[in-house]
Amino acid sequence: MKSSAVRIEAALYLGFDVGTQSTKAVVLDASTGTVVARAQCAYDLLPGLPPGHQEQHPDTWIAAVQATARQVLQGVDASRIQGIGVSGQQHGCVVLDEHAQVVRAAKLWCDTSTATEARALSQQLGRLVPTGFTASKLVWLRAHEPQNWARVRTVLLPHDFVNLRLCGTATMECGDASGTGFFDPVARGFDALAMRAIDPRLAAMLPPLVRPGAPAGRLSSAGALLLGLPEGVPVSHGGGDNMMAAIGSGAAANGVAVVSLGTSGTVFARSDSPVVDPGGLIAPFCSSDGAYLPLLCVMNLTGVTESVCRLTGLTHAELTQRASAVPIGSDGLTWLPFLNGERVPDLPDANGTLLAMRSDNLTPGHVYRAALEGTSCNLAHGARRLQQLGVPLRELRLCGGAASNVLWRQILADLLEVPVAVVEEPEAAALGAAIQALWTVRRLAGERASCAEVAAPFVRTTGELVRPSRDLAASRALRARFARELLRHHGVRLLD
Ligand code: XUL
Repeated sequence: MKSSAVRIEAALYLGFDVGTQSTKAVVLDASTGTVVARAQCAYDLLPGLPPGHQEQHPDTWIAAVQATARQVLQGVDASRIQGIGVSGQQHGCVVLDEHAQVVRAAKLWCDTSTATEARALSQQLGRLVPTGFTASKLVWLRAHEPQNWARVRTVLLPHDFVNLRLCGTATMECGDASGTGFFDPVARGFDALAMRAIDPRLAAMLPPLVRPGAPAGRLSSAGALLLGLPEGVPVSHGGGDNMMAAIGSGAAANGVAVVSLGTSGTVFARSDSPVVDPGGLIAPFCSSDGAYLPLLCVMNLTGVTESVCRLTGLTHAELTQRASAVPIGSDGLTWLPFLNGERVPDLPDANGTLLAMRSDNLTPGHVYRAALEGTSCNLAHGARRLQQLGVPLRELRLCGGAASNVLWRQILADLLEVPVAVVEEPEAAALGAAIQALWTVRRLAGERASCAEVAAPFVRTTGELVRPSRDLAASRALRARFARELLRHHGVRLLD
Protein backbone atom coordinates (compact mmCIF):
# COMPACT_ATOMS: atom_id res chain seq x y z
CA MET A 1 0.00 0.00 0.00
CA LYS A 2 1.34 3.45 -0.88
CA SER A 3 0.07 6.77 0.37
CA SER A 4 -2.31 8.37 -2.15
CA ALA A 5 -2.43 12.06 -3.03
CA VAL A 6 -5.15 14.02 -1.20
CA ARG A 7 -5.22 17.82 -1.01
CA ILE A 8 -3.44 18.88 2.20
CA GLU A 9 -6.39 20.89 3.51
CA ALA A 10 -8.93 18.15 2.71
CA ALA A 11 -6.83 15.54 4.46
CA LEU A 12 -6.94 13.87 7.86
CA TYR A 13 -4.06 13.89 10.35
CA LEU A 14 -3.49 11.27 13.03
CA GLY A 15 -2.06 12.30 16.41
CA PHE A 16 -0.98 9.99 19.24
CA ASP A 17 -0.16 10.88 22.81
CA VAL A 18 1.69 8.10 24.61
CA GLY A 19 1.09 8.99 28.26
CA THR A 20 1.77 7.43 31.63
CA GLN A 21 -1.69 6.01 32.20
CA SER A 22 -2.87 5.56 28.63
CA THR A 23 -2.24 6.23 24.97
CA LYS A 24 -4.70 8.51 23.22
CA ALA A 25 -5.26 8.90 19.49
CA VAL A 26 -7.20 11.56 17.59
CA VAL A 27 -7.99 12.09 13.93
CA LEU A 28 -8.08 15.75 12.90
CA ASP A 29 -10.03 16.77 9.80
CA ALA A 30 -8.08 19.70 8.39
CA SER A 31 -10.97 20.83 6.20
CA THR A 32 -13.43 21.29 9.07
CA GLY A 33 -10.93 21.88 11.88
CA THR A 34 -12.55 19.25 14.05
CA VAL A 35 -11.47 16.05 15.73
CA VAL A 36 -13.53 13.39 13.95
CA ALA A 37 -12.43 10.29 15.87
CA ARG A 38 -10.73 9.52 19.14
CA ALA A 39 -9.56 6.41 20.99
CA GLN A 40 -7.80 5.53 24.21
CA CYS A 41 -5.98 2.47 25.55
CA ALA A 42 -5.09 2.35 29.26
CA TYR A 43 -2.16 0.57 30.93
CA ASP A 44 -0.38 0.49 34.27
CA LEU A 45 3.08 0.94 35.63
CA LEU A 46 5.05 -2.29 36.17
CA PRO A 47 3.73 -3.79 39.41
CA GLY A 48 5.78 -4.96 42.37
CA LEU A 49 8.76 -2.60 42.07
CA PRO A 50 10.28 -0.99 45.20
CA PRO A 51 9.04 2.50 46.20
CA GLY A 52 10.32 5.24 43.89
CA HIS A 53 10.79 2.86 40.94
CA GLN A 54 8.26 3.80 38.23
CA GLU A 55 8.69 1.82 35.04
CA GLN A 56 6.90 0.70 31.90
CA HIS A 57 8.00 -1.58 29.09
CA PRO A 58 8.21 0.38 25.81
CA ASP A 59 6.51 -2.49 23.97
CA THR A 60 3.40 -1.67 26.03
CA TRP A 61 3.29 1.70 24.26
CA ILE A 62 3.62 0.12 20.84
CA ALA A 63 0.78 -2.30 21.59
CA ALA A 64 -1.33 0.67 22.76
CA VAL A 65 -0.48 2.69 19.64
CA GLN A 66 -1.61 -0.26 17.54
CA ALA A 67 -4.80 -0.75 19.55
CA THR A 68 -5.77 2.94 19.44
CA ALA A 69 -4.94 3.17 15.73
CA ARG A 70 -7.27 0.25 14.98
CA GLN A 71 -10.01 1.83 17.05
CA VAL A 72 -9.65 5.42 15.86
CA LEU A 73 -9.48 4.48 12.18
CA GLN A 74 -12.69 2.46 12.23
CA GLY A 75 -15.08 4.22 9.91
CA VAL A 76 -12.35 6.61 8.69
CA ASP A 77 -11.19 6.59 5.06
CA ALA A 78 -7.56 5.59 5.75
CA SER A 79 -6.40 6.85 2.36
CA ARG A 80 -7.19 10.41 3.56
CA ILE A 81 -4.60 10.20 6.39
CA GLN A 82 -1.76 12.34 5.09
CA GLY A 83 0.36 12.78 8.18
CA ILE A 84 1.05 11.30 11.60
CA GLY A 85 2.47 12.90 14.75
CA VAL A 86 3.51 11.37 18.07
CA SER A 87 3.57 13.02 21.49
CA GLY A 88 5.04 11.17 24.45
CA GLN A 89 5.63 11.37 28.17
CA GLN A 90 8.92 13.21 28.66
CA HIS A 91 12.23 12.02 30.14
CA GLY A 92 11.57 8.23 29.97
CA CYS A 93 14.73 6.25 29.32
CA VAL A 94 14.42 3.77 26.44
CA VAL A 95 17.54 1.64 25.94
CA LEU A 96 17.95 -0.55 22.85
CA ASP A 97 20.50 -3.22 21.92
CA GLU A 98 22.31 -3.73 18.61
CA HIS A 99 19.14 -5.23 17.09
CA ALA A 100 17.04 -2.24 18.21
CA GLN A 101 15.33 -4.42 20.81
CA VAL A 102 14.47 -3.08 24.27
CA VAL A 103 17.18 -3.98 26.84
CA ARG A 104 15.07 -3.34 29.95
CA ALA A 105 11.91 -1.52 30.98
CA ALA A 106 12.00 2.29 30.75
CA LYS A 107 12.37 4.30 33.92
CA LEU A 108 9.78 7.08 33.64
CA TRP A 109 9.68 10.84 34.32
CA CYS A 110 8.12 10.11 37.75
CA ASP A 111 10.79 7.60 38.85
CA THR A 112 12.68 8.91 41.89
CA SER A 113 14.89 5.87 42.45
CA THR A 114 17.84 7.68 40.85
CA ALA A 115 17.90 10.60 43.32
CA THR A 116 21.44 9.74 44.51
CA GLU A 117 22.74 9.67 40.94
CA ALA A 118 20.93 12.95 40.13
CA ARG A 119 22.54 14.65 43.12
CA ALA A 120 26.02 13.39 42.19
CA LEU A 121 25.60 14.46 38.57
CA SER A 122 24.32 17.90 39.61
CA GLN A 123 27.39 18.35 41.77
CA GLN A 124 29.72 17.20 39.01
CA LEU A 125 28.17 19.51 36.39
CA GLY A 126 27.60 22.47 38.70
CA ARG A 127 23.90 22.76 37.74
CA LEU A 128 20.71 21.09 38.89
CA VAL A 129 19.93 17.90 36.99
CA PRO A 130 16.50 17.09 38.40
CA THR A 131 15.66 13.53 39.42
CA GLY A 132 13.25 12.44 36.75
CA PHE A 133 15.30 13.73 33.81
CA THR A 134 16.84 10.99 31.65
CA ALA A 135 20.47 11.63 32.63
CA SER A 136 20.44 10.14 36.13
CA LYS A 137 18.58 7.05 34.87
CA LEU A 138 21.55 6.25 32.63
CA VAL A 139 24.04 6.75 35.48
CA TRP A 140 21.85 4.44 37.59
CA LEU A 141 21.74 1.80 34.87
CA ARG A 142 25.49 1.86 34.44
CA ALA A 143 26.05 1.46 38.21
CA HIS A 144 23.25 -0.98 39.08
CA GLU A 145 22.91 -3.11 35.96
CA PRO A 146 26.30 -3.09 34.22
CA GLN A 147 25.37 -6.20 32.21
CA ASN A 148 22.37 -4.34 30.74
CA TRP A 149 24.34 -1.15 30.18
CA ALA A 150 26.99 -3.11 28.24
CA ARG A 151 24.28 -4.18 25.77
CA VAL A 152 22.95 -0.66 25.12
CA ARG A 153 23.61 0.77 21.66
CA THR A 154 20.83 3.37 21.37
CA VAL A 155 19.20 5.71 23.91
CA LEU A 156 15.81 7.21 23.03
CA LEU A 157 12.92 9.05 24.63
CA PRO A 158 9.44 7.46 24.59
CA HIS A 159 8.09 9.32 21.56
CA ASP A 160 11.35 8.77 19.64
CA PHE A 161 10.96 5.05 20.25
CA VAL A 162 7.44 5.08 18.78
CA ASN A 163 8.76 7.06 15.78
CA LEU A 164 11.45 4.40 15.32
CA ARG A 165 8.86 1.64 15.23
CA LEU A 166 6.76 3.66 12.76
CA CYS A 167 9.53 4.81 10.41
CA GLY A 168 12.45 2.44 10.99
CA THR A 169 14.83 5.34 11.69
CA ALA A 170 15.94 6.67 15.06
CA THR A 171 15.81 10.45 15.55
CA MET A 172 15.44 13.01 18.32
CA GLU A 173 14.20 16.61 18.23
CA CYS A 174 15.11 19.57 20.41
CA GLY A 175 11.88 19.76 22.48
CA ASP A 176 11.94 16.37 24.15
CA ALA A 177 15.76 16.16 24.02
CA SER A 178 15.96 19.33 26.13
CA GLY A 179 14.51 17.25 29.01
CA THR A 180 17.30 14.71 29.04
CA GLY A 181 19.73 16.66 31.25
CA PHE A 182 22.49 16.11 28.66
CA PHE A 183 21.24 18.71 26.20
CA ASP A 184 22.10 22.39 25.99
CA PRO A 185 18.81 24.15 25.24
CA VAL A 186 20.48 27.47 24.48
CA ALA A 187 22.84 25.95 21.91
CA ARG A 188 20.07 23.53 20.81
CA GLY A 189 22.47 20.59 20.78
CA PHE A 190 23.74 17.78 23.00
CA ASP A 191 25.96 18.81 25.90
CA ALA A 192 29.35 17.12 25.39
CA LEU A 193 30.44 17.65 28.99
CA ALA A 194 27.27 16.13 30.44
CA MET A 195 27.40 13.19 28.04
CA ARG A 196 31.01 12.45 29.03
CA ALA A 197 30.11 12.70 32.72
CA ILE A 198 27.44 10.04 32.24
CA ASP A 199 29.53 7.74 30.03
CA PRO A 200 32.02 8.43 27.25
CA ARG A 201 30.04 5.99 25.06
CA LEU A 202 26.80 7.97 25.34
CA ALA A 203 27.43 10.40 22.45
CA ALA A 204 27.56 7.48 20.01
CA MET A 205 24.25 6.11 21.34
CA LEU A 206 22.22 9.19 20.45
CA PRO A 207 20.47 9.54 17.09
CA PRO A 208 20.64 12.67 14.93
CA LEU A 209 18.48 15.70 15.81
CA VAL A 210 15.77 16.53 13.29
CA ARG A 211 15.26 20.22 12.38
CA PRO A 212 11.99 21.79 13.60
CA GLY A 213 9.22 21.04 11.13
CA ALA A 214 11.15 18.38 9.22
CA PRO A 215 9.72 14.85 9.25
CA ALA A 216 11.17 12.10 11.44
CA GLY A 217 10.56 9.85 8.45
CA ARG A 218 7.80 8.08 6.55
CA LEU A 219 5.72 5.11 7.55
CA SER A 220 7.79 1.97 6.88
CA SER A 221 6.23 -1.34 5.82
CA ALA A 222 6.40 -2.48 9.48
CA GLY A 223 4.92 0.84 10.66
CA ALA A 224 2.18 0.61 8.02
CA LEU A 225 1.30 -2.88 9.20
CA LEU A 226 1.23 -1.68 12.82
CA LEU A 227 -1.21 1.15 12.11
CA GLY A 228 -3.18 -0.36 9.25
CA LEU A 229 -2.26 2.59 7.01
CA PRO A 230 -0.48 2.93 3.67
CA GLU A 231 3.29 2.94 3.59
CA GLY A 232 5.01 6.26 3.01
CA VAL A 233 2.76 8.57 5.08
CA PRO A 234 4.98 11.33 6.57
CA VAL A 235 5.59 11.16 10.31
CA SER A 236 6.44 14.51 11.93
CA HIS A 237 9.23 14.62 14.51
CA GLY A 238 6.73 14.81 17.36
CA GLY A 239 7.82 15.88 20.82
CA GLY A 240 7.34 15.60 24.57
CA ASP A 241 3.73 15.73 25.72
CA ASN A 242 4.09 19.25 27.10
CA MET A 243 5.60 20.53 23.84
CA MET A 244 2.75 18.95 21.90
CA ALA A 245 0.13 20.19 24.38
CA ALA A 246 1.62 23.65 23.82
CA ILE A 247 0.78 23.35 20.12
CA GLY A 248 -2.67 21.86 20.79
CA SER A 249 -3.67 24.46 23.37
CA GLY A 250 -2.53 27.64 21.66
CA ALA A 251 0.80 28.11 23.43
CA ALA A 252 2.54 27.82 20.06
CA ALA A 253 1.81 31.56 19.98
CA ASN A 254 3.59 33.88 22.40
CA GLY A 255 1.70 35.32 25.37
CA VAL A 256 -0.47 32.28 26.07
CA ALA A 257 0.41 30.41 29.25
CA VAL A 258 -0.99 26.94 29.81
CA VAL A 259 -1.58 24.77 32.87
CA SER A 260 -1.81 21.08 32.10
CA LEU A 261 -3.60 18.99 34.73
CA GLY A 262 -2.69 15.36 34.16
CA THR A 263 -0.68 12.73 36.01
CA SER A 264 1.86 15.54 36.30
CA GLY A 265 0.97 19.21 36.63
CA THR A 266 2.77 21.63 34.36
CA VAL A 267 2.75 25.36 33.68
CA PHE A 268 4.41 26.58 30.50
CA ALA A 269 4.50 29.31 27.88
CA ARG A 270 6.28 29.65 24.57
CA SER A 271 9.14 32.09 24.28
CA ASP A 272 11.25 33.22 21.32
CA SER A 273 14.41 33.20 23.43
CA PRO A 274 15.67 30.73 26.02
CA VAL A 275 14.45 31.32 29.58
CA VAL A 276 17.03 30.08 32.06
CA ASP A 277 16.16 30.04 35.75
CA PRO A 278 19.32 30.45 37.85
CA GLY A 279 17.51 28.58 40.67
CA GLY A 280 16.71 25.65 38.37
CA LEU A 281 13.01 25.63 39.34
CA ILE A 282 11.80 26.30 35.82
CA ALA A 283 13.03 23.82 33.21
CA PRO A 284 14.60 25.64 30.24
CA PHE A 285 13.02 23.41 27.59
CA CYS A 286 12.94 23.97 23.85
CA SER A 287 9.52 23.79 22.21
CA SER A 288 8.87 21.28 19.43
CA ASP A 289 8.32 24.00 16.84
CA GLY A 290 11.63 25.79 16.85
CA ALA A 291 11.35 28.06 19.90
CA TYR A 292 11.53 27.64 23.70
CA LEU A 293 9.12 26.40 26.34
CA PRO A 294 10.08 27.35 29.91
CA LEU A 295 8.13 24.93 32.08
CA LEU A 296 7.41 24.06 35.65
CA CYS A 297 6.49 20.45 36.42
CA VAL A 298 5.18 18.95 39.63
CA MET A 299 5.07 15.17 39.84
CA ASN A 300 2.10 14.98 42.21
CA LEU A 301 -1.21 16.03 40.76
CA THR A 302 -4.04 13.72 39.76
CA GLY A 303 -2.27 10.87 41.57
CA VAL A 304 -3.11 12.72 44.80
CA THR A 305 -6.82 13.12 44.06
CA GLU A 306 -6.91 9.52 42.77
CA SER A 307 -5.54 8.38 46.12
CA VAL A 308 -8.47 10.06 47.89
CA CYS A 309 -10.90 8.18 45.61
CA ARG A 310 -9.16 4.90 46.45
CA LEU A 311 -9.14 5.70 50.16
CA THR A 312 -12.79 6.73 50.39
CA GLY A 313 -14.34 4.57 47.68
CA LEU A 314 -16.03 7.73 46.31
CA THR A 315 -15.85 9.05 42.75
CA HIS A 316 -14.25 12.34 41.70
CA ALA A 317 -17.72 13.75 41.05
CA GLU A 318 -18.94 12.81 44.54
CA LEU A 319 -15.80 14.12 46.20
CA THR A 320 -15.86 17.35 44.17
CA GLN A 321 -19.43 17.94 45.30
CA ARG A 322 -18.50 17.44 48.95
CA ALA A 323 -15.31 19.50 48.64
CA SER A 324 -17.30 22.38 47.12
CA ALA A 325 -19.19 22.68 50.41
CA VAL A 326 -15.92 23.00 52.37
CA PRO A 327 -14.57 26.56 52.80
CA ILE A 328 -11.36 27.75 51.12
CA GLY A 329 -8.47 26.50 53.25
CA SER A 330 -10.19 23.21 54.15
CA ASP A 331 -10.79 24.37 57.74
CA GLY A 332 -7.06 24.28 58.37
CA LEU A 333 -6.33 20.86 56.85
CA THR A 334 -3.12 21.24 54.83
CA TRP A 335 -1.68 18.64 52.52
CA LEU A 336 1.94 18.77 51.41
CA PRO A 337 1.16 16.36 48.59
CA PHE A 338 4.54 14.79 47.77
CA LEU A 339 3.28 11.20 47.75
CA ASN A 340 6.09 9.72 45.66
CA GLY A 341 8.80 12.35 46.03
CA GLU A 342 8.66 15.62 44.11
CA ARG A 343 10.65 17.40 41.41
CA VAL A 344 9.62 20.96 42.27
CA PRO A 345 10.51 21.60 45.00
CA ASP A 346 13.47 19.27 44.62
CA LEU A 347 12.40 16.63 47.17
CA PRO A 348 12.83 13.26 45.46
CA ASP A 349 12.81 11.37 48.76
CA ALA A 350 9.81 13.15 50.33
CA ASN A 351 6.50 11.61 51.40
CA GLY A 352 3.16 13.36 51.67
CA THR A 353 2.14 15.07 54.92
CA LEU A 354 -1.41 15.81 56.01
CA LEU A 355 -1.35 18.51 58.67
CA ALA A 356 -3.74 19.95 61.26
CA MET A 357 -6.18 17.06 61.26
CA ARG A 358 -9.08 17.52 63.68
CA SER A 359 -12.22 15.56 64.30
CA ASP A 360 -14.25 18.20 62.42
CA ASN A 361 -12.05 18.47 59.32
CA LEU A 362 -11.19 14.83 58.68
CA THR A 363 -14.01 14.23 56.20
CA PRO A 364 -13.72 13.00 52.58
CA GLY A 365 -14.71 16.47 51.31
CA HIS A 366 -12.04 18.21 53.38
CA VAL A 367 -9.34 15.73 52.39
CA TYR A 368 -10.25 16.05 48.69
CA ARG A 369 -10.25 19.83 48.90
CA ALA A 370 -6.89 19.75 50.72
CA ALA A 371 -5.54 17.59 47.85
CA LEU A 372 -6.75 20.15 45.26
CA GLU A 373 -5.39 23.04 47.32
CA GLY A 374 -2.01 21.48 48.14
CA THR A 375 -1.25 20.50 44.55
CA SER A 376 -2.51 23.88 43.26
CA CYS A 377 -0.44 25.87 45.78
CA ASN A 378 2.63 24.10 44.47
CA LEU A 379 1.67 24.85 40.86
CA ALA A 380 0.82 28.46 41.70
CA HIS A 381 4.27 28.99 43.09
CA GLY A 382 5.78 27.73 39.83
CA ALA A 383 3.54 30.02 37.81
CA ARG A 384 4.72 33.03 39.83
CA ARG A 385 8.32 31.99 39.23
CA LEU A 386 7.62 32.01 35.48
CA GLN A 387 6.25 35.52 35.85
CA GLN A 388 9.37 36.62 37.75
CA LEU A 389 11.45 35.35 34.84
CA GLY A 390 9.57 37.69 32.52
CA VAL A 391 6.94 35.32 31.11
CA PRO A 392 3.62 37.23 31.08
CA LEU A 393 0.65 35.45 32.70
CA ARG A 394 -2.37 37.56 31.83
CA GLU A 395 -4.66 34.63 31.22
CA LEU A 396 -4.15 30.93 31.70
CA ARG A 397 -5.50 28.11 29.61
CA LEU A 398 -6.21 24.78 31.22
CA CYS A 399 -5.82 21.49 29.43
CA GLY A 400 -5.53 17.82 30.45
CA GLY A 401 -8.03 15.39 31.92
CA ALA A 402 -8.57 17.15 35.25
CA ALA A 403 -9.32 20.52 33.58
CA SER A 404 -12.97 19.40 33.52
CA ASN A 405 -13.15 19.72 37.32
CA VAL A 406 -14.94 23.04 37.94
CA LEU A 407 -13.80 23.33 41.55
CA TRP A 408 -10.16 22.82 40.58
CA ARG A 409 -10.54 25.59 37.95
CA GLN A 410 -11.81 28.06 40.55
CA ILE A 411 -9.10 27.13 43.08
CA LEU A 412 -6.43 27.73 40.43
CA ALA A 413 -7.95 31.06 39.32
CA ASP A 414 -7.97 32.20 42.98
CA LEU A 415 -4.47 31.02 43.85
CA LEU A 416 -2.94 32.32 40.62
CA GLU A 417 -5.07 35.47 40.63
CA VAL A 418 -5.61 35.36 36.88
CA PRO A 419 -8.64 34.41 34.77
CA VAL A 420 -8.62 30.81 33.61
CA ALA A 421 -9.97 29.55 30.29
CA VAL A 422 -10.39 25.90 29.33
CA VAL A 423 -9.12 24.42 26.08
CA GLU A 424 -11.97 22.79 24.15
CA GLU A 425 -10.04 19.66 23.17
CA PRO A 426 -9.23 17.70 26.34
CA GLU A 427 -6.48 15.74 24.59
CA ALA A 428 -4.40 18.79 23.73
CA ALA A 429 -1.17 16.81 23.30
CA ALA A 430 -2.69 14.35 20.81
CA LEU A 431 -4.31 17.27 18.96
CA GLY A 432 -0.94 19.07 18.98
CA ALA A 433 0.66 15.99 17.44
CA ALA A 434 -1.92 15.93 14.64
CA ILE A 435 -1.44 19.68 14.03
CA GLN A 436 2.34 19.30 13.96
CA ALA A 437 1.88 16.55 11.33
CA LEU A 438 -0.15 18.99 9.21
CA TRP A 439 2.54 21.67 9.67
CA THR A 440 5.20 19.18 8.52
CA VAL A 441 3.20 18.14 5.46
CA ARG A 442 2.69 21.78 4.51
CA ARG A 443 6.41 22.39 4.85
CA LEU A 444 7.13 19.34 2.68
CA ALA A 445 4.85 20.95 0.10
CA GLY A 446 7.02 24.10 0.19
CA GLU A 447 4.88 26.30 2.49
CA ARG A 448 6.61 28.35 5.16
CA ALA A 449 3.80 29.10 7.64
CA SER A 450 4.82 28.85 11.29
CA CYS A 451 3.42 26.10 13.48
CA ALA A 452 1.40 28.72 15.41
CA GLU A 453 -0.18 29.97 12.17
CA VAL A 454 -1.06 26.42 11.13
CA ALA A 455 -2.43 25.64 14.61
CA ALA A 456 -4.58 28.77 15.03
CA PRO A 457 -7.76 27.54 13.25
CA PHE A 458 -7.78 24.27 15.22
CA VAL A 459 -7.32 25.49 18.79
CA ARG A 460 -10.37 26.78 20.63
CA THR A 461 -11.33 27.44 24.21
CA THR A 462 -14.78 26.57 25.58
CA GLY A 463 -15.61 30.28 25.83
CA GLU A 464 -16.12 30.12 29.59
CA LEU A 465 -13.70 32.29 31.60
CA VAL A 466 -13.27 31.50 35.31
CA ARG A 467 -12.39 34.75 37.05
CA PRO A 468 -10.65 35.01 40.43
CA SER A 469 -13.12 35.51 43.29
CA ARG A 470 -13.72 39.10 44.50
CA ASP A 471 -12.33 38.37 47.94
CA LEU A 472 -8.95 36.68 47.73
CA ALA A 473 -8.02 36.96 51.40
CA ALA A 474 -8.70 33.28 52.18
CA SER A 475 -6.75 32.08 49.13
CA ARG A 476 -3.79 34.30 50.00
CA ALA A 477 -3.85 32.99 53.56
CA LEU A 478 -3.88 29.44 52.18
CA ARG A 479 -0.83 30.16 50.00
CA ALA A 480 1.00 31.65 52.96
CA ARG A 481 0.15 28.65 55.14
CA PHE A 482 1.37 26.23 52.46
CA ALA A 483 4.66 28.17 52.22
CA ARG A 484 5.08 28.16 56.02
CA GLU A 485 4.51 24.42 56.29
CA LEU A 486 6.85 23.69 53.40
CA LEU A 487 9.59 25.58 55.18
CA ARG A 488 8.86 23.92 58.50
CA HIS A 489 8.67 20.34 57.22
CA HIS A 490 11.07 20.31 54.27
CA GLY A 491 13.27 23.37 54.80
CA VAL A 492 12.10 24.77 51.44
CA ARG A 493 11.60 28.54 51.24
CA LEU A 494 9.18 29.58 48.48
CA LEU A 495 10.03 32.78 46.64
CA ASP A 496 7.13 35.17 46.67
C1 XUL B 1 7.56 17.33 32.36
C2 XUL B 1 7.25 15.98 32.90
C3 XUL B 1 5.85 15.45 32.81
C4 XUL B 1 5.76 14.33 31.82
C5 XUL B 1 4.39 13.68 31.90
O1 XUL B 1 8.85 17.73 32.56
O2 XUL B 1 8.08 15.29 33.41
O3 XUL B 1 4.94 16.47 32.51
O4 XUL B 1 6.05 14.79 30.54
O5 XUL B 1 4.16 12.81 30.87
